[in-house]
Amino acid sequence: MSHIFAHRGSSGTYPENTMLAFKKAEKTGCYGLEFDVHMTKDLEVVVIHDETVNRTTNGRGAVKDMTLEELKKLSIKSGWLRKEKIPSLDDVLEWAQGNEMIINIELKNDKVFYKGLEELVVQKVAKYQLEGRIIYSTFNHESVKILKKITTCEVAALYSRKGINPVLLAQSLNADAIHANYRVMTPQLMRDCQRHGIPVRLYTLNRPPLIQKWMNEGLSGVITDYPDLAQKFKDKK
Ligand code: G3P
Ligand code: CA
Repeated sequence: MSHIFAHRGSSGTYPENTMLAFKKAEKTGCYGLEFDVHMTKDLEVVVIHDETVNRTTNGRGAVKDMTLEELKKLSIKSGWLRKEKIPSLDDVLEWAQGNEMIINIELKNDKVFYKGLEELVVQKVAKYQLEGRIIYSTFNHESVKILKKITTCEVAALYSRKGINPVLLAQSLNADAIHANYRVMTPQLMRDCQRHGIPVRLYTLNRPPLIQKWMNEGLSGVITDYPDLAQKFKDKK
């Protein structure tokens, strides 16, 4: 059974990593939500993909150099009339208490080093008692090891480079799952993971033939910008 995860929310249709995109994703009835987190100057956690606010907001600068209050003053760029704000991790987790989605928190600590981000995120999840519904993931494989030490939640190793053996990667990190760019996955590698009991979720599966192909291979998770579309393929196998 392939579970559908909304990548940065319903980000194919609504502004990525916003409460609007998350609420719209939930409305599709999809299984899970994926989003990205960074740490602010005042040691808060915000939901945004890039290291800077330049691409997605009307501001400029690095997230790590701004306080939560400063970040909250910015507006998300979009064609929508109502301008969304950058959500804090607290905003999302508080909202998530009112639904049943599985929450995949991607720690964006592969390009910027955020001291203590793992502990901070784990503490926030505990504050909202959402441990039973969380999957952590990160491209930073040292961070995977840290997370495995401080949480019992599922921790997935992310990768996007060719030539990596996902079974060896998961085993070397003691990771619970693999999240990979679909371009570097093969049916054979996925079967190897399945034989070793390692769930594989692939991003970003947006085109119907791709979604169908990987569902037919028994993929564990489809990470997609279009959860509404992917839902239509849910029960084909
Ligand atoms: O978590 C899967 C995927 O979101 C990783 O890539 O760049 O979209 O965060 P990116
Ligand atoms: Ca992500």
